[in-house]
Amino acid sequence: MKRDFLTIPDLKVEELRKLLQRAAALKAGRASTPQILQGKTVALVFQKPSMRTRVAFEVAVLELGGAVIYLGQEDIQLGRREAVKDVARVLSRYVHGIVLRTFGHANAEEFAKHATVPVINGLSDLVHPCQALADVMTMQEAFGRLQGLKAAYIGDGNNVLHSLIEACARLGVSVAVAAPKGYAPNAAIWKAAKWEASRHGASLELAADPKQVVRGADVIYTDVWVSMGQEPERAKRLRAFKGYQLNAALLKLAKPGCKVLHCLPAHRGEEITDDVMEGPPSLVVDQAENRLHAHKALLEFLIGSSQQSAHSSQQKHT
Ligand code: CP
Ligand code: NVA
Repeated sequence: MKRDFLTIPDLKVEELRKLLQRAAALKAGRASTPQILQGKTVALVFQKPSMRTRVAFEVAVLELGGAVIYLGQEDIQLGRREAVKDVARVLSRYVHGIVLRTFGHANAEEFAKHATVPVINGLSDLVHPCQALADVMTMQEAFGRLQGLKAAYIGDGNNVLHSLIEACARLGVSVAVAAPKGYAPNAAIWKAAKWEASRHGASLELAADPKQVVRGADVIYTDVWVSMGQEPERAKRLRAFKGYQLNAALLKLAKPGCKVLHCLPAHRGEEITDDVMEGPPSLVVDQAENRLHAHKALLEFLIGSSQQSAHSSQQKHT
């Protein structure tokens, strides 16, 4: 049975923990990466631009011994030139795994439903689970543990935050979120993550005041105020997020030794200042690097160990 990775809850907590351990081991042993994707091909189907997700997946597949095909919006025109289910079924006959970056999360679900090979969500409007793997991996590296850490998130209740709270809740990291009115995280994701947090000795809190949430924080996280696809709302969003900038004054209120995370790309001067991006607490480049190692562990888990063949028509007829 193929496994997909569309959201963090697609992994059992134990699988998530093991994946993070494996990512750390693959990082430490990068020079001798196991060639577990030899003879296998992974397709990247991206409807939005990307640097980290695309390059980290391409390099991960290549270092694992596999081949990779990148298909941008103009190549496939998902849902426009061809129905999502047709692309999913046909691509599954060619390749052994698919990384999809799309708009509506329902597209990712529809794609995964019809694909017969593992589908990885490389970002949808709702969640960004691959990012969250690297985020918690970076926290683990910085503090040597996850359980009991306190993270603060300032800004938009968006895809990056949704996956972050889903991962943190399962790993015992408390998250306090400061978001302006109208930009709180998705209520269903929040409720489910709050329940997971309580089961794992952590908590989730939502406030309006950034100063309130950064007090006692080990990590402060922020993301852009205008996500891909929201460009028409830019002026309105810039007004709404005024006062939600991660700057030196806000950072001063956190614990000494507090670290700064950002999924990147960053809009310096909007959600984060240049000095905070460049300052010693900033782990943003390590965090971006960790995408590579986390992706490798994920590919190994979903594709490397599976006996799944891309050629399902042959299987059916023999
Ligand atoms: N953080 C992240 O997903 O970056 P890209 O959009 O460049 O892939
Ligand atoms: N929230 C951002 C994340 C980019 C990696 C977006 O969706 O554009």
